[in-house]
Amino acid sequence: MTSDPLHKIPTAPAAKPLVGHLFSFRRSPIDFFSTNARNFKELFQFKIFSKSYIILNHPDAVHHVLTSNVKNYTRQKSYAFLQELLGMGLLTNEGDEWRTRRRLAQPNFGREKLASLMQQMDAAIENFAKEHFNTNSTLSLEDELNHLTLSILTQSILYSENNSNFEKVKSDLQDALEYLTAQRFNVFKFMTKLPSKRKSKGKAAIARLKLLVENIILERRRSKATHNDLLEMLMNTKDEENNEMLDDKALADEVMTMFVAGHETTASSLLWTIYLLEHNSAVREKLLQELQMNYDGAAIDVTKMMQLPYMRMVIMETMRLYPPVWSFGRKAIDEDQIMGYVIPKGASVNIPVYCIHRHPDYWKHPDAFYPEHFLPEAVKERDKFAYLPFSQGMHRCIGEHFAIMEMQMVLMRLYFQYEIHFAADKAPVLHPLVTLKPKEPIYFTIQKRKL
Ligand code: HEM
Repeated sequence: MTSDPLHKIPTAPAAKPLVGHLFSFRRSPIDFFSTNARNFKELFQFKIFSKSYIILNHPDAVHHVLTSNVKNYTRQKSYAFLQELLGMGLLTNEGDEWRTRRRLAQPNFGREKLASLMQQMDAAIENFAKEHFNTNSTLSLEDELNHLTLSILTQSILYSENNSNFEKVKSDLQDALEYLTAQRFNVFKFMTKLPSKRKSKGKAAIARLKLLVENIILERRRSKATHNDLLEMLMNTKDEENNEMLDDKALADEVMTMFVAGHETTASSLLWTIYLLEHNSAVREKLLQELQMNYDGAAIDVTKMMQLPYMRMVIMETMRLYPPVWSFGRKAIDEDQIMGYVIPKGASVNIPVYCIHRHPDYWKHPDAFYPEHFLPEAVKERDKFAYLPFSQGMHRCIGEHFAIMEMQMVLMRLYFQYEIHFAADKAPVLHPLVTLKPKEPIYFTIQKRKL
């Protein structure tokens, strides 16, 4: 901890005239952050053109921004690029309106409520596997997992007998996100104003998605039929403080937010879990042994999941090495001080989750796949702000239990029934956009396990 007050935040070396660190950052944001994180253990800043970004590489600094002085840090700008699709859902909202919505939504994401969705989640996994994995052909792991998590999410949010909404959501969501992400990561902002094929395709997809969700909500209001899904839970929740309920616009925003926040993140985490298991045979064998001893392939319920603590540790450790949300940002509303450094009013601060997760001061084996990092006694001893896959504080991911439950169910079904092998053994290059992906597809083959 820095003792003298008011240090100047150190700047990453090798800034170029005019562009600052643009090229080294663009070449590989993860390498750029990691190299500097090794040299600056608390905070550092870098520049792109004339704009500075402050990187908080210390759990105390993260604690300050996410909890002790959270009022001074807004995240509105970070997700503004998604507003065209998400409206004012939980991810894009702030202040009193966010607080009311979060209070309303929160009770539906507790472990008990989520347990009531397990049956249809399990069925969605089984059906998807039957349709997609009974093949000896080579598949792209990322695409398959993206579709699998979207299929599970569709059945959990907008349940229908034959999962008929999945195909409708699938291609439109992809086009919508491709367009919005391209706008967000274009350094030359004037270009985002120009017409393009991607833009018109994306806008049309957003309009169709909104119409689909609005119509489903209207239909639900009209009919008396019950559906065991998150939309129904949200429609029925009343705020105990003021008796308020979510109106149709708010419901549609939250449905869209769950689709966007919940599917690529979970797919990314599953992808890296399978990747790491393929490359760490001792961990894989231990996981398979636990599975064989405690699971018989029957319908998955909470009791069966509780019998697999090692699998849960494997999931947590994967999210340490490859956090799907590899970094996230906030903006300082007023001048502030963090660990003795002055944070100017209006400064962009960034939490480099990937780097903090590999910080040697907090992790026994920073770069190794070591699920024992998540033994209960190790967790108890560690600073909780050194592990941030779901963030911390008031904006902590509302879907955390949902995601962990889903990942565990997918891994149970996959590893119980199938053998997974990679088609080529090439170390993937990381491609960090909103979620952490491999630059090139990872291909794999999948075969029924011989029991
Ligand atoms: C492995 C999977 C997931 C990861 C790693 C993840 C990670 C995160 C992180 C880091 C945040 C905080 C972002 C910030 O404050 O800047 C967040 C927020 C959020 N996540 Fe997740 N998430 C996952 C799955 C899900 C799922 C499955 C859902 C919904 C079904 C979901 C819904 C949300 C929502 C609505 C927020 C905004 C919360 C608020 O500000 O009130 N997430 N997530």
